[in-house]
Amino acid sequence: MDLFRLDGEVAFVTGAGSGIGQRLAIGLAEAGADVACFDLPTSEGLAETVQRIEAMGRGAHGLTGTVVNEEDVAAAVADAEASLGPLTVAINAAGIANAAPAEELTREQWQQMFDVNLTGLFTCCQAEGRAMLGRKRGSIINIASMSGSIVNRGLTQVHYNASKAAVIHLTKSLAMEWCDRGVRVNAISPGYTATPMNLRPEVAEQRKQFEADTPLGRMAEVDELVGPAVFLAAKASSFCTGIDLIVDGGFVCW
Ligand SMILES: NC(=O)c1ccc[n+]([C@@H]2O[C@H](COP(=O)([O-])OP(=O)(O)OC[C@H]3O[C@@H](n4cnc5c(N)ncnc54)[C@H](O)[C@@H]3O)[C@@H](O)[C@H]2O)c1
Repeated sequence: MDLFRLDGEVAFVTGAGSGIGQRLAIGLAEAGADVACFDLPTSEGLAETVQRIEAMGRGAHGLTGTVVNEEDVAAAVADAEASLGPLTVAINAAGIANAAPAEELTREQWQQMFDVNLTGLFTCCQAEGRAMLGRKRGSIINIASMSGSIVNRGLTQVHYNASKAAVIHLTKSLAMEWCDRGVRVNAISPGYTATPMNLRPEVAEQRKQFEADTPLGRMAEVDELVGPAVFLAAKASSFCTGIDLIVDGGFVCW
């Protein structure tokens, strides 16, 4: 199905050193794209992502910095284009999660959550949009969360939930600003997904609850986000912009 192929496309993926971002970077390459992979300089998995993409015979380029810093992001997008070609696809998956009761949450925790999950994501959209708008072609995919639409039972993460709700509306707002300029902007909102974040031994009990709370009775595997991401990146979704594709095993229905 050519509709789902990404041959000749050049992608930029943030959070590409771990979990969802890593799997989606590899997934875009499996569909044919060359992929620039961005993560923190401390990322342990970034080199592996690049290696796995190159092993498939696709172009890959590892880039480091923080999404919070405008210069880092602008330099990374420029470097990605210089090494792989004009950017046509972007996935913004870099993000953080933590928890604290609302009445004890510090201003620093609140600010850091918004700096990374919202301001950092916007900084990436802005740099990616600047690259794509002039050529009137591109697809940007923001990794939000079902926590942007529902409240996770038992999790005290008001700052995380609020940041993800903002990502969903930011996505719709950018989609409308850029709808007549060839750049589509959509979100994917995963439910509980088996990534390092959710597989730590200390969350083993919580994991049982996550599975029980999900109608499909389990967490998603990162592999199960590849199809939705390739769909939104490819021609198959050419009439989709401003959507929030919820991939949650039915969670938001209950
Ligand atoms: N795992 C889940 O259940 C789940 C569910 C819904 C949404 N999400 C979202 O998916 C995205 C990826 O989460 P994950 O579970 O793969 O987590 P993860 O911790 O495995 O991966 C996140 C990656 O982002 C990178 N990152 C963090 N801060 C950064 C910064 N300032 N600059 C650049 N890179 C940075 C980290 O180094 C890491 O490689 C996040 O936005 C998260 O909120 C996750």
